[in-house]
Amino acid sequence: MNSITNSHAMIPAQFQRVVSGMRPTGSLHLGHFHGVLKNWVQLQYEYECYFFVADWHALTTHYEDPSVIERSVWEMVIDWLAAGVDPGTARIFIQSQVPEHAELHTLLSMMTPLSWLERVPTYKDQQEKLKEKDLSTYGFLGYPLLQSADILAYRAAHVPVGEDQVAHVELTREVARRFNHLYGKEAGFEEKAERAAKKMGKKNAKLYSRLRKSFQEEGDHEALETARALLEAQQNITIGDRERLFGYLEGGGKIILPEPQALLTQASKMPGLDGQKMSKSYHNTISLREDPLEIERKIRTMPTDTQRVRKTDPGDPDKCPVWQLHQIYTGETQRTMLAEGCRSAGIGCIDCKQPVIEGVLSELAPMRERAKNFTEEPTLVKNIIEEGGELAREEAKRTMTEVRQAMGLSYT
Ligand code: TRP
Ligand code: SF4
Repeated sequence: MNSITNSHAMIPAQFQRVVSGMRPTGSLHLGHFHGVLKNWVQLQYEYECYFFVADWHALTTHYEDPSVIERSVWEMVIDWLAAGVDPGTARIFIQSQVPEHAELHTLLSMMTPLSWLERVPTYKDQQEKLKEKDLSTYGFLGYPLLQSADILAYRAAHVPVGEDQVAHVELTREVARRFNHLYGKEAGFEEKAERAAKKMGKKNAKLYSRLRKSFQEEGDHEALETARALLEAQQNITIGDRERLFGYLEGGGKIILPEPQALLTQASKMPGLDGQKMSKSYHNTISLREDPLEIERKIRTMPTDTQRVRKTDPGDPDKCPVWQLHQIYTGETQRTMLAEGCRSAGIGCIDCKQPVIEGVLSELAPMRERAKNFTEEPTLVKNIIEEGGELAREEAKRTMTEVRQAMGLSYT
């Protein structure tokens, strides 16, 4: 990795930012829980997390009838909270309530080559896949850049995404690099950097200067690392000065928008009720707040190994969708017994499904309980979003002040 791309590396994890968004286009199901939310819940205790409802993103594909977005926003936030996303540590907000995302999107659009957007793989894929929608719009082409703005507005270090979104983080890195290259060379950069160094105190300024020289003149990477650690340890300099000193250290300009890393989430292995991946469009989901009786009914009526017509026919677990759910919900000892029972026709499919039913129900019971607090008291949710939005705006504003300054738009 190029050292310049890595200005986050020395920051302790709890101060590094993670940004992720989710489109509000329907209620969340077990696939979202196992594929995304479980991961968010873990990340929120390791990093400073910003999780937002990507309502503008949803509009790029649902502009003709946005009613589903409006209906889904609050329900989705409740699903997040039910799954364990903790507003006490993560900042939860709605994208459209932080207009800085749009401002940054506009500014980035000025310097982003059209070809970068046209070659994002999801662009053509989704147009092909969603043929019933007219996606030859400006907004749809630009949506990965909007995503870049979402991420860069918080100067995030990490972006948890699935495989399908890695290209968007890659675009974000390229855009950040181009931005820094174009606008990181502020007038009087060197003097400003020298002045910033002095703000660390005489001793530190001297050390910084010596380490910088060792790195630039002798390529001493240890000195580079030490200097970075020194910068990270500074409590009393502004973010702007810190980024200046990072840039100056490595011989580049100021790093205004640091490049984020994709934090690849393992693809969800959550199978649906029919053995295909769980997905709304396959109608094979169990939603996070589904009624327990309905859950039981759905699993009871799941298809099994088609060769097993009668209870006396032996079956093959590897050809059975229920078996895939056992991989998630059932311990190995019990699984061995069930597989044996299936192959020898010793147990019936209803018996075999029982532990899955129990597994799903006990996973969802605490979520239903938590959700109840919020559905009974909607103001709780509104307040959480209000507070999250405020903190997000504060941070995004800080970035935008720097961005405007760098682009000559501060008019002071
Ligand atoms: N594009 C993402 C999706 O469709 C959602 C998203 C929007 C996002 N902005 C983001 C994810 C920023 C991570 C970071 O799933
Ligand atoms: Fe599937 Fe279990 Fe029936 Fe075997 S016993 S076919 S694994 S449901």
